[in-house]
Amino acid sequence: MRAATVVILAGALAAAGAVMANGAANTPAAPASNPVGLKTAASFQSIKDPAARSIALFTEAGKVIQSPRCLNCHPVQRAPTQGDDLHPHNPPMIAGDSGHGPAGMPCFSCHTQANVPTWGQDIKSIPGDPKWGLAPAEMAWQGKSLGAICGQIKNPATNGGRSLAEIHHHMAEDHLVGWGWNPGAGRVPAPGTQAQFGELIKAWIDTGAKCPKA
Ligand code: HEC
Ligand code: HEC
Repeated sequence: MRAATVVILAGALAAAGAVMANGAANTPAAPASNPVGLKTAASFQSIKDPAARSIALFTEAGKVIQSPRCLNCHPVQRAPTQGDDLHPHNPPMIAGDSGHGPAGMPCFSCHTQANVPTWGQDIKSIPGDPKWGLAPAEMAWQGKSLGAICGQIKNPATNGGRSLAEIHHHMAEDHLVGWGWNPGAGRVPAPGTQAQFGELIKAWIDTGAKCPKA
């Protein structure tokens, strides 16, 4: 009985938090969608040369790849960053051997299965996902040109051994990648939608997966 009450109460509080977080009056700094937006893959059909179209498609997808929501987990230093200015993670945090934090202080001690709203003034939610962890060193994107990132993403030695089809699947379907469009209250989502992003990556692959100049 007591446990059930606690569960119901927690649910009600979480719901209230979510409603609060969505209330426009309370969250002037966090629009539900990114004002930058994303062009559709179809809108690149007018570029006749496949290689030029491929590069243009990846450049558009780069608005997502180089958004703070992705970059914060793909740093060069072995430590996550936070916010739109990519400031060091507060409290100080390191990747640890697994990318899931040092022994005794894993990412999961704070980041749970899903975003959790808070009642703080500065921090409106704690991000969460079942796979929360830092991307491996060879997948570092911060401070690199889009061309360099493109080369890494294509290369099985630096992309987790994935084929281009698997890269497309990861970009279009992966739940942790999808967090970028569902980042929790107080954070601006990545531009467009994950589906649109997936279509850009598919069209990029279909046109030869050409990279912008590094
Ligand atoms: C919470 C941290 C986190 C966030 C946020 C995150 N990633 Fe990752 N990413 C990882 C981890 C960890 C891996 C390695 C795991 C794997 O290979 O499956 C990875 C691997 C990848 C890979 C495959 C390897 C490569 O570099 O080619 C791609 C592509 C990728 N992420 C795309 C994205 C995109 C796009 C976003 C933003 C929309 C994003 N990630 C946001 C943690 C994150
Ligand atoms: C002691 C608690 C704690 C631990 C442990 C922790 N985090 Fe965090 N993390 C937070 C809090 C709280 C926030 C939200 C801060 C904010 O939005 O200003 C956050 C935010 C982040 C963000 C920023 C997301 C964005 O786009 O702004 C990333 C990335 C991140 N954490 C990655 C990690 C990774 C990877 C680990 C493990 C290696 C980790 N964190 C361990 C508490 C923690």
